[in-house]
Amino acid sequence: MKTTLLSSIVLALCALGTLGAPVKEPTSDSIQPDGGFASSCTGTSVTSSGVLTSTCGNGSGGTTVTAIGLNGCIANASGALVPRTGGGFVASCSGLRLSSTTLFANCGNGNGGTVPASIDLNQVLTNRFGVLTCP
Ligand SMILES: *[C@@H]1O[C@H](CO)[C@@H](O)[C@H](O)[C@H]1NC(C)=O
Ligand SMILES: *[C@@H]1O[C@H](CO)[C@@H](O)[C@H](O)[C@H]1NC(C)=O
Repeated sequence: MKTTLLSSIVLALCALGTLGAPVKEPTSDSIQPDGGFASSCTGTSVTSSGVLTSTCGNGSGGTTVTAIGLNGCIANASGALVPRTGGGFVASCSGLRLSSTTLFANCGNGNGGTVPASIDLNQVLTNRFGVLTCP
């Protein structure tokens, strides 16, 4: 009993000693970078309405056929395709086609014109255990 009490006091004193130590904040290193889906997905295709389908590794040796609406991931910024949550680019872009991991389209530029635009989907889509996500 005495030993236990003594240990408790010693532990308490040790704990007090660490009170002044700086609290460890999560660093940006611990946040998984987005993108890079292509290294773990195959057979990727995109429909004219921007639905991307791919077969992606699930992280445990299996694969999942997964789909994601790119319209919710990409925006038309005056004729340039940019990653953006809820982007809605499909309304002002047409002729969607995929070459390797790059999506090509013809997008309205805001001045009544149409310009060719592209975006590397490998910097937009992330494979999370067989499910594709975008920021
Ligand atoms: C991944 O696929 C394997 C093989 O089909 C399966 O056994 C496993 O449960 C799957 N894991 C997940 C997280 O879906
Ligand atoms: C997308 O293109 C249209 C023209 O079709 C333009 O008016 C609009 O500004 C563009 N979207 C954005 C977010 O810039």
